[in-house]
Amino acid sequence: MDAMTFVLFGATGDLAKRKIFPALYNLFVDQKLPSSFELVGLGRRQFQESEFQAQVEKSLHSFSRRPVTDPDSVAQFLSMIRYVELNVGEPADYVKLNDRISQREQQLGLPQNRVFYMSVGPELFGPIVSNLKASGLSEVTGWKRLVVEKPFGHDLVTARELNASLSRVFDEHETYRIDHYLGKPMVQNLEVLEYSNPILQALWRNRYVANVQITAAETVGVESRAGYYDHSGALRDMFQNHMLQMLMMLAMQLPKHSTADDVGFKKRKVMESLRALNPEDIAANVVRGQYAAGIMGGQEVVGYKDEPGVAPNSTTDTYIAARLWIDDYFWSEVPFYIRTGKRMKSKTTRIVIEFKDPSDKFTRTNETTTPNLLIIDIGPEAGMTFQINMKNPLTGKLEAVPIHFGSDESNVPEAYEKLIGDMMAGDSTFFAHWDEVELAWQWVEPILQAFEANEVPIHSYPAGSNGPLAAKQLLEADGYHWWLDE
Ligand code: BG6
Repeated sequence: MDAMTFVLFGATGDLAKRKIFPALYNLFVDQKLPSSFELVGLGRRQFQESEFQAQVEKSLHSFSRRPVTDPDSVAQFLSMIRYVELNVGEPADYVKLNDRISQREQQLGLPQNRVFYMSVGPELFGPIVSNLKASGLSEVTGWKRLVVEKPFGHDLVTARELNASLSRVFDEHETYRIDHYLGKPMVQNLEVLEYSNPILQALWRNRYVANVQITAAETVGVESRAGYYDHSGALRDMFQNHMLQMLMMLAMQLPKHSTADDVGFKKRKVMESLRALNPEDIAANVVRGQYAAGIMGGQEVVGYKDEPGVAPNSTTDTYIAARLWIDDYFWSEVPFYIRTGKRMKSKTTRIVIEFKDPSDKFTRTNETTTPNLLIIDIGPEAGMTFQINMKNPLTGKLEAVPIHFGSDESNVPEAYEKLIGDMMAGDSTFFAHWDEVELAWQWVEPILQAFEANEVPIHSYPAGSNGPLAAKQLLEADGYHWWLDE
């Protein structure tokens, strides 16, 4: 891997502490960092380098997936980490930073390969990037890469504005938009499952699939994030990005080569085939929910409007369910039901593919069959289950039998490890490309407007439940139900 300087904006923030440093440390232990590597952490506060390194070490102890037991490897890792104080709004600070990084590159004989990682609020992405250009930091003799976290825009217009400002300095192939769901092993497995299993390849189409259900249910509420979440809601926070990215990965047709360009092209095709919702169809296809007080794990929890920092009359969605149609050759006529919500009964991210059931009665015994299911568990446990029908040898009765494949490996690399590793290797396959992001905002936009205009009812659901009744009815109207709701 190329030698590089990794410039981290927001190095003292929460994401750096919980995800970025632990991911880098685990990559280091796996010998997946380049042999010449320097990380420059940037923050507003004044720190001695040793103080900052001690903070990083603490974060490894708290959040590394591997236990941190070898002091030598920790010391070696920390020795690659510098700290520089920087005021993001102060152009002179960037000029100083550029001098410092250039000098260091010369000293260490590092080529000018620079990663700029924006672990900061999205309102700072644009200003930072213009300062990178003005100061010369982005003028390199090697390569440069920009990593941005979500949210990428607040709606279609702001996402386009943001992209325009970033792309004045970084080309699309230099821009890595993180969607951590794309780093989850089972989401990455979707492509592999289809590639490597002719059985699935044959079945992955409307001829055999009755419907597809994608669920991302969380037990947590808004926590301490009301300042952000109350202006965002589930549609922006989860649906526009993670849920639609999972849909793309699942529904895309296999590209000939699994390269970033080819995968991106096939994902874009899915979004282009996604049937746009007309304003008059939104209320019939989208369920908006907000959690009310309820019981979770035996404890009473407050409703969304009573959470600290939430406006008492808030109409923010903490739950979304939607019925979508992909009008292409393979998926036309197959409804995709997608839902995500906070304060639900259990933490589960799961895809269920329900197959058509042409033999609804086993004629000899007149017993009813259950549809075959393919269940892909994305998290917290990764696994896959096939549900098929068999005669129970003891009772002689027809039964739906699960065949389960799970990994015993509890210590698999975290999404951030995978994504940061790919980015350092210059592979953007599992990142959100601009076309996808733009098309996703385009699809979501009429729903945002309908919410704003209050044209879609807000259904309340008790914390600890499976969501509003209306989401159940959405499927019942088509003769289906959500599988595996406890
Ligand atoms: C984040 C959202 O992107 O994903 C959070 O901002 C959400 O609101 C989180 O809780 C869920 O991620 P995971 O990996 O726990 O499913």
